[in-house]
Amino acid sequence: MIRSPDPVEFARRPRPWFRERSRATASSFQESEAGVTRGQVPAKLECEPISTVRRPHEWKNLVCPTLVGHLLALAEQTGVLELRDRMFAGEHINVTEDRAVLHTALRRPATDSLTVDGQDAIADVHEVLEKVYAFARRVRSGEWVGITGKPVKTVVNVGIGGSDLGPVMAYEALKPYVQEGLECRFISNIDPTDAGETTKDLDPETTLVIVASKTFTTLETITNAKVVRAWLLDGLRERGIVTDEASEKEAIAKHFVAVSTALDKVAEFGIDPANAFGFWSWVGGRYSVDSAVGTSLAVAIGPEGFADFLAGFNAMDRHFLEAAPEKNVPLLMGLLNVWYSNFLGADTHAVLPYSQYLHRFPAYLQQLTMESNGKSVRRDGSPVTYETGEVFWGEPGTNGQHAFYQLIHQGTRMVPADFIAFANPTWALGDGDADMHELFLSNFFAQTKALAFGKTSEEVRAEGTPEAIVSARVFTGNRPTTSIMAPALTPSVLGQLIALYEHITFVEGAVWGIDSFDQWGVELGKVLAKQILPAIEGSSEALDAQDQSTRALIEYYRTNRTK
Ligand code: F6P
Repeated sequence: MIRSPDPVEFARRPRPWFRERSRATASSFQESEAGVTRGQVPAKLECEPISTVRRPHEWKNLVCPTLVGHLLALAEQTGVLELRDRMFAGEHINVTEDRAVLHTALRRPATDSLTVDGQDAIADVHEVLEKVYAFARRVRSGEWVGITGKPVKTVVNVGIGGSDLGPVMAYEALKPYVQEGLECRFISNIDPTDAGETTKDLDPETTLVIVASKTFTTLETITNAKVVRAWLLDGLRERGIVTDEASEKEAIAKHFVAVSTALDKVAEFGIDPANAFGFWSWVGGRYSVDSAVGTSLAVAIGPEGFADFLAGFNAMDRHFLEAAPEKNVPLLMGLLNVWYSNFLGADTHAVLPYSQYLHRFPAYLQQLTMESNGKSVRRDGSPVTYETGEVFWGEPGTNGQHAFYQLIHQGTRMVPADFIAFANPTWALGDGDADMHELFLSNFFAQTKALAFGKTSEEVRAEGTPEAIVSARVFTGNRPTTSIMAPALTPSVLGQLIALYEHITFVEGAVWGIDSFDQWGVELGKVLAKQILPAIEGSSEALDAQDQSTRALIEYYRTNRTK
């Protein structure tokens, strides 16, 4: 049984090194000669106070070699790397669900093999991948046609949580790689607005729906799938295309496919199991974008693009497995997060991509990190005695600069932040002679510099600032950031980036001794929603069974709803 030491107790030990504000060097991504992108690691760690260094560094963190040594010792003490090896080997490290945790198998080459629960997981993965790729080719080439013989123009992915956030984030991030004339849309929310707005201008004859649900029981997804099925059939009926049961069946077969681990339920829904792509219980929803859940993305960017995406994940997996601890980026970044949250009291962690294409990345990370590490008991069921799971949040720069950066620069809370940027833009636009990407990136470089070095009262006074407002214009600096850069936002780089955060999340969960792969905390609300529905629909008995506050809210709804 692996147990974490109590970080609070650990934090009380004398730490003369704590006051040393230090810097570490590069964490960046670079293309290798083979074209595979690899995560590069901090080459060295130095212990110079950042407020006097006065030159840009890629890691501007409150660390020094002694501290890193302590954090690596903490990782050793808590068995992080043993747990990593057990995860990659397919052991059942998801203890509360008694499951293997094998998203890393989704991106291993076909030449590998790994037997899990008596099955060759890698062979299974590649069998499904080939099926997804064949489907993607047929849609992209126009060979897959709808009931009236027209090729697909719009792919609508219906799913929620991990069956939505990964595909939509990656689709948005890789827009420049999307085949011209093809568009993906995503319906997730059970708010009818989502299905209504998404389908309102679509042509059912050229729409293909992917129903993505690991369990195929999720209320939101099944409801949305039924609503979209009705929309599609009604549209085809109005045009006289669907006229009877046989043409209805044909329309569903040509316009609906599914992604699920529950292929029996897919058939019950009316989708031909031949048009279903499977995955396995050992792929958690929030770790599934690189499984068949990414089918919409595979259609959009093509099998070659998707293969690059998977190669990026695999490159980061290998780095996490093979790099020495003191050079292991996910290990170090995960430990830094533990340092900031458990030892320095940071409650939140900002992720700030300087790339509009990554505008859904923080939302994606919210599920990855918070559904994984929002836990209060250890793997053996005992309560933790320290904080777990920071609140992840963020927005793309520079928009965030004009919204919430004030708090990060001058607020009382420490908000460690990851800045992400790319050397090359997709849109090489200019404002006269000025390269717009350089105007953009000057902000990226400036922000981490300002956060690290701040501005002293002497500097503020030297600008002739009236004494009464000097303190309001001082920046303390020493606000930690990690900058991640890559040559460009390619499918491979995106794969690396996602895998990096998967492994950071893993490291933190391992130090805390929790099960990062279950999600029991989302169950109670689902059960209560089912119980409350009759009260909303008009049952007085169900209404009376509610607590006073919930009853008052439902009464307000019933009074104000016009049907
Ligand atoms: O309710 C949470 C959750 O189980 C997530 O973990 C998951 O990604 C999401 O719901 C969707 O689940 P499914 O893919 O089974 O529809």
